[in-house]
Order: sequence, then structure tokens, then C-alpha cells
Amino acid sequence: MESLRFEEFTVPGRPGDSDERVADWVRATDLGFYDKERDAEAMQRVVDALRARGTRLVGVYDDGAAPPSLAATLPVATFAEFAGEFTVGPNAAVPAHQISDVTVRATHRRRGLLRRMLEDSLSRAAAAGAAVAVLTASEAGIYGRFGFSPAAHSQPVRVDVRSGLRLRPEARALVDGAGGRVVDVHPRDLAGIHDAVFAGFHAASRGSVTRSYDDVQRVTGRWGPDGRGAADDLRGYAYHAADGRPLGFATARFGGWDKTPKELRVVDLVAGDPAAELALWDHLGAHDLVQVLTFGRARVDDPLRWALADPRDVKTRDVEDSLWVRPLDLPAIVRASEFAADGRIVLDVEDSLGYVDGTWVLTVDGGAASVRRAGEGAPGPAGAAETVRVGVETLGSLLTGAIEPWQAEATGRLAGGERGAAAMRRIFGGRPRPMNHTFF
Ligand SMILES: CC(C)(COP(=O)(O)OP(=O)(O)OC[C@H]1O[C@@H](n2cnc3c(N)ncnc32)[C@H](O)[C@@H]1OP(=O)(O)O)[C@@H](O)C(=O)NCCC(=O)NCCS
Repeated sequence: MESLRFEEFTVPGRPGDSDERVADWVRATDLGFYDKERDAEAMQRVVDALRARGTRLVGVYDDGAAPPSLAATLPVATFAEFAGEFTVGPNAAVPAHQISDVTVRATHRRRGLLRRMLEDSLSRAAAAGAAVAVLTASEAGIYGRFGFSPAAHSQPVRVDVRSGLRLRPEARALVDGAGGRVVDVHPRDLAGIHDAVFAGFHAASRGSVTRSYDDVQRVTGRWGPDGRGAADDLRGYAYHAADGRPLGFATARFGGWDKTPKELRVVDLVAGDPAAELALWDHLGAHDLVQVLTFGRARVDDPLRWALADPRDVKTRDVEDSLWVRPLDLPAIVRASEFAADGRIVLDVEDSLGYVDGTWVLTVDGGAASVRRAGEGAPGPAGAAETVRVGVETLGSLLTGAIEPWQAEATGRLAGGERGAAAMRRIFGGRPRPMNHTFF
């Protein structure tokens, strides 16, 4: 790696300012993800978005490269990180280190560039006080070795609405009884509604990551689906509670007249409570000429099918991971988490990068959770607690509830005998599945 130079920088200036070094970094990232070249306007909007969320960019430059090699002008590897929040319990989020735009040019792959960028990034994150690192992965095989594992899942759904959304009477009563209403809204008027609704969802939802500037550009249709142009076919919907508060929103686009069945594609659907979510589905299903609703990112434990007169009106496909998490500060995560039951367990954690490696005593008492290194702090009855052995990857998924303890046990990811496994099932098990609506 003699000729390789690692640079870290943020986006200088103010909104609207251009910057050639950042633009070259964006060009390199686009190459890595097989994106089209950007015109000046599309470039400016991504530069502004990177600046708006305070992104730190890492570029790796090959000083030995000569033109016409692209490596002579563009970085051969890119990496981005920015600060956000990750919800681990009701109204309890921890500081999160968000990672994105990870690319290594084919000419420089498998020489350890990703490893170096990621390990450096994790140490900056820990030094800055992040409790977790999070990312959305384009491939599932890359990040486990660095201690990441799925934190939340989602699944594509297809809902038959040829006769509208056929709700069971109890579900209809729930929607009607809530007294709210859905209105059609131009997407550009959704910004404030989005912010209020998303804040409520995020506070309440384990597994949620904060949204940022670029999410709002997409919700409001100022950006098209690929971040370029405007979304001139996007439709917006807002759900207002009986007292007028916005409690849900959705965006959708028509699938085209040339397709059968006629489809309304839900792009985003976020709600602060179940009645609002059902009311939005109900309204989306009430479009004449539309025969099917599709949504790429529904909950894996979506109650929708249980609300329908014919549960087979909902069809689902493969479950997909929607977020990966890497624990960095276990005490901070545990303090903010809500567990299923009181109890005490000793966690023998293996973490090859060291952040949470070692033996920990986790206690949940009256709902309040804490963890300390074995041998540290008040000597308590830790000796009496069961011990389980777990890798940091599995621990991350157990903390968010993406994996149930019985699943970890059934796959050999949790070792420690029947009593330890039973304690894990009691403390970590049986919570609603985590849900994330943020993609970065
Ligand atoms: C994925 C990518 C960033 C890897 O970069 P890289 O510099 O070649 O990776 P490294 O050489 O540092 O490899 C680190 C480790 O990850 C493994 N690895 C790298 N890419 C992998 C992949 N796609 N699948 C499985 N393992 C992978 C390596 O084998 C190596 O394992 P080891 O340390 O156990 O030997 C690069 O191939 C790339 O840019 N791909 C296209 C864009 C992309 O998918 N980005 C990820 C966005 S989430």
C-alpha cells in the first residue's frame, strides 16, 4: 500500500457551494455502485446532502497511478460516516455512528482497504462516544467479520385491493373509533408532517435510525428515486388524529397503465400508531382502478394480515435485512434498552476487535437494566447467575430483538446450557420485532 494515501475530510462551505475534491469522491462512489454520471445539478444536490448531515468522508488515493487511469484523479476507495441516533428502547435512543458509501475500486479490491477504513472508522466512533455503529449492507457477507449483524428486517408485501382493503369488522371499528382521517397532500407539503410523524415513530421503535436531509428530499419529491431530477409522479397522504396531530404519512406512485394488475407502489409508509397505519392502508386501497398495493419495506410481523377478512389478500416475499448494527458501548446500550423481564445473566462475549469483549453481568431490576464487567463494581450475586457465551454479532441482534434467543440457541450462536438459555429467553425474548424505516 506504499503509494496509497488515506484522506479524511468534511464538505466545506455553505449550501450551494461546490467542491471539486468532494465531487471526485462522489464520482468514485457512483462508480463503485454502478451509478450513472451526474450532471452539475445532481452533483450539487449530493454535495449539499453530504454537508447537511455533517458527513466525514474518507478517500483513498493512489499516488502511483497515471492517466488515463481513473485512479490518477479519483479516489480508489470511498467511505462515509456521520452521527445519528439509534433507538433501543421506548424513548431511549443511543448515539449511533452511521456508515455509508463504502466502495473499493475493482483494481484495488481484496488488499485490505475496506478493513482499514472500517476499523479506523470504528475507533473514531468509539472515541466520539457512539454506542453503536450502523449501516445498510448491499451484500450480507461483508460485515459480520467486523462485528455487525442484522438489527432489523423488513419484507416486500403485495395487497390485493380489487374490492378495496377488506378489513375485518373489528379492524374497521379500530380505524373508525380512532376518529382520525387521511387526506391527500402534495408531497412538497409533507416535510413538516414527515418530521413530526417520523420523530414519533423513531422514539417508539426499537431498531429505528434517525432520518436526515436526503430522506426529506425524497419524501417531498424534490429528488427522484435515484436522487436525480424531481419525482413528478409521487403522491402524498397524511393521517391526522382526531385532535389534528399528524400521526402518519405515506407516499406512493402509480405503476403504469401498461401493467396488469394496476398497481399503486407505496414508497414510504410511517405511522405513530396502529390505527393510523391501518387507516393509511385502507385509504391507499380505496383508489379506483388500482387492483394491488405493493410496499417493499413492510414489517416482518406486520399486523395487516390479521386485520383482513381474507388474510391471503396479503402476500409476502423474502425477508430482507434493513439495518446492521455493531455494538461499541455495551453499558450505554443496555441502560437504554427495555427487556422482557427482570433477571440477571452473565454474558461471556467474544469480540475480535475488543470493544465489548469479555465477561459482563447484565441485571434487569424493576425494568431498569444495567451491565458491568464481571469483577467490577459492587460484588452482587453474580456468582449465582447463569453464564452464556455469545459472539458480538449475535449479541447485537439479540439486543435489538432481530433474533430471538431460541433462534440463537437453535443455531449454536448462544452456548451455556439449558438454564442459561432459559434466562436469555426470559430477559431478551418475546419482544415485538425491531423496525427501521431509514436507508442510507
Ligand atoms: C465490498 C468491498 C467494499 C470490499 O472491499 P475490499 O477492500 O476488497 O475488502 P478487504 O480487502 O478489506 O476485505 C476485508 C475482508 O472482507 C472480505 N470481503 C470483502 N468483500 C467481500 C464480499 N463482497 N463478500 C464477502 N467477503 C468480502 C475479504 O475477503 C476480507 O476478509 P478477511 O479479512 O477475512 O480476509 C468492495 O468489494 C466493493 O467496493 N464492492 C462494491 C460496492 C459494495 O458492495 N460496497 C458495500 C456497500 S454496503
